[in-house]
Amino acid sequence: MQHMRLSSRVGRIAESATLKVSRRASEMKAQGIDVVDFGAGEPDFASPAVAVEAARRALAEGFTKYTPSSGIPTLRRAVAERYARHYGAPWPAAQTLISVGGKGALFESILALVEEGDEVVLHTPAWVSFPEQIRFAGGRVVEVPTDGADGFAIHAGPILAALGERTRAVILNSPCNPTGGVIGPEDLRAVVAACAERGIVLLSDETYERFLYDGAAFASAAALAAEFPETVAVVGSFSKTYAMTGWRLGYLLGPKALVDAAANIQGHATSNPTSFAMVGALAALEGAEGDVAAMVAEYQERRDLLVPALNALPGVTCQPPRGAFYAFPDVSAAYGDDIDGSIAFAERLLEEAHVAVVAGEAFGSDRHVRISFACSRADLERGVERFGRFLERRRPVARRA
Ligand SMILES: Cc1ncc(COP(=O)(O)O)c(C=O)c1O
Repeated sequence: MQHMRLSSRVGRIAESATLKVSRRASEMKAQGIDVVDFGAGEPDFASPAVAVEAARRALAEGFTKYTPSSGIPTLRRAVAERYARHYGAPWPAAQTLISVGGKGALFESILALVEEGDEVVLHTPAWVSFPEQIRFAGGRVVEVPTDGADGFAIHAGPILAALGERTRAVILNSPCNPTGGVIGPEDLRAVVAACAERGIVLLSDETYERFLYDGAAFASAAALAAEFPETVAVVGSFSKTYAMTGWRLGYLLGPKALVDAAANIQGHATSNPTSFAMVGALAALEGAEGDVAAMVAEYQERRDLLVPALNALPGVTCQPPRGAFYAFPDVSAAYGDDIDGSIAFAERLLEEAHVAVVAGEAFGSDRHVRISFACSRADLERGVERFGRFLERRRPVARRA
């Protein structure tokens, strides 16, 4: 019997190591085990009522056919207007593509930009899909490490030093998943200006735009788009901002040639995002500001509860994340003879303490684990207590190492 041959392209991407732990967590939950799940990067809030109602109405009224493949014009216009209003961005609706999640917009942009052997500069630790999407497109990831001691801040210097002949794009993700690190306005300007000089695209993933703590202001690359129109592209998402993960809606705004190319790919890959979901997203954009403010205030409370509690655990150090909704503690002091890194740590924590976290190795840092605080305060308290008991039990083992 002949075996089918898969493309070499598909061989370049790996299944995420994170999936193993989340699969095991689901199995344990199905067996009735009480698992505290810090794994999911998914808001625990309901989608805004205005969005649900608008989508329900659209569905009932038969808004169930194909739409233009770049999205419904009203939503494209509303997203473009929001960026113009908030950041003085120059993009018209024609340079605003509605995509299937922010993930869709990123994938299309990377496919549109990267040729075999091209380089994409990425600060690390980084969200798992960036390197895989780059490799799938045939590109090479040039990593620029950020430093936990510095709150994983994203600095221009090391990014500029990584730019080379083959660099086609720099990806920024501020606030960053998994670190919560952010880039300041001066560093952002320096990166954009350097990209502009070299004809490199700055792809700014602003999925966590609204999740900033301690009153910090957000530095959006959109604010530099009028000055650097051929350089700046922004990806955003309805998933986290409006607790609408399952609706699968995101967007890309940027230079006309890039948005047109991404739209062309989308036209042949998915066509339009779901028609009635887009109607719901428009309602969220226009009428769910109160919901967003309430969610962000709650995330701040949770962060302020979680981070000191983690730092009080033996051997754990955790910088307060400046944004997003993840804590990224260094747990390497608990490694020892029997735990050789973050994957083993996450597995043992799940099996012995029934707490699910994501191993930092998946993001490029084996000393850390990621804890999502998109869960109730009661779960945070329960989970941290179990975490503490697990670490206490490990103390003699770790000391032997
Ligand atoms: C940094 C980052 N970018 C993009 C996404 C994609 O989100 P979505 O496709 O749900 O819009 C995620 C989701 O976890 C993310 O963490």
